[in-house]
Amino acid sequence: MAPKSLFLVSLIVGVLVVGAPMAQAQLGGLGGLIGSLLGLIRINGIVPCLLSSTTSLINGTIPVFPNAVVQLKCGGNVVSSATTNQNGVFSILLDPLQFILSTVLNTCQLVVPTPLSSCNSSLPIAGVLQSALQFVGNTVQGLLSIANIVPTGFNLIG
Ligand SMILES: *[C@@H]1O[C@H](CO)[C@@H](O)[C@H](O)[C@H]1NC(C)=O
Ligand SMILES: *[C@@H]1O[C@H](CO)[C@@H](O)[C@H](O)[C@H]1NC(C)=O
Repeated sequence: MAPKSLFLVSLIVGVLVVGAPMAQAQLGGLGGLIGSLLGLIRINGIVPCLLSSTTSLINGTIPVFPNAVVQLKCGGNVVSSATTNQNGVFSILLDPLQFILSTVLNTCQLVVPTPLSSCNSSLPIAGVLQSALQFVGNTVQGLLSIANIVPTGFNLIG
């Protein structure tokens, strides 16, 4: 986006937020709406080197999966992908002009086609890790509102 439109976007976000004193629950919904219309959508998390994990928001002791390809699949199509770093962390940014937050949450999944055996040779070569998505709130960075999405947890799917 050009700086001028960024400024406009932040102005609109500011006006919407300031102009709408609302209950906490409603703010959550409004935040999602603003994120999907005027800000970026960011999907990030950690891919654990495990058969299953309840959440990938982890802080320390779980083995991680470096150099894993993480694909964002929507309706069976790969729409974006990233690779985890040495700490198993990945990040995918989506253009809100092409993606609606609620659609991403409802129709997309994260899929890791890299075999689990490549992070731990005791783990299976077959299958892919898969996770649903969860919205965890908006953050404002400079002039941008970012809708944050994390994996609900990766599980090996045959
Ligand atoms: C993070 O680590 C602390 C202890 O260091 C633990 O109590 C907490 O449950 C951990 N959080 C997660 C999300 O694993
Ligand atoms: C590799 O996976 C096996 C089986 O789950 C586990 O027992 C072992 O601790 C893992 N090794 C590492 C280095 O994580």
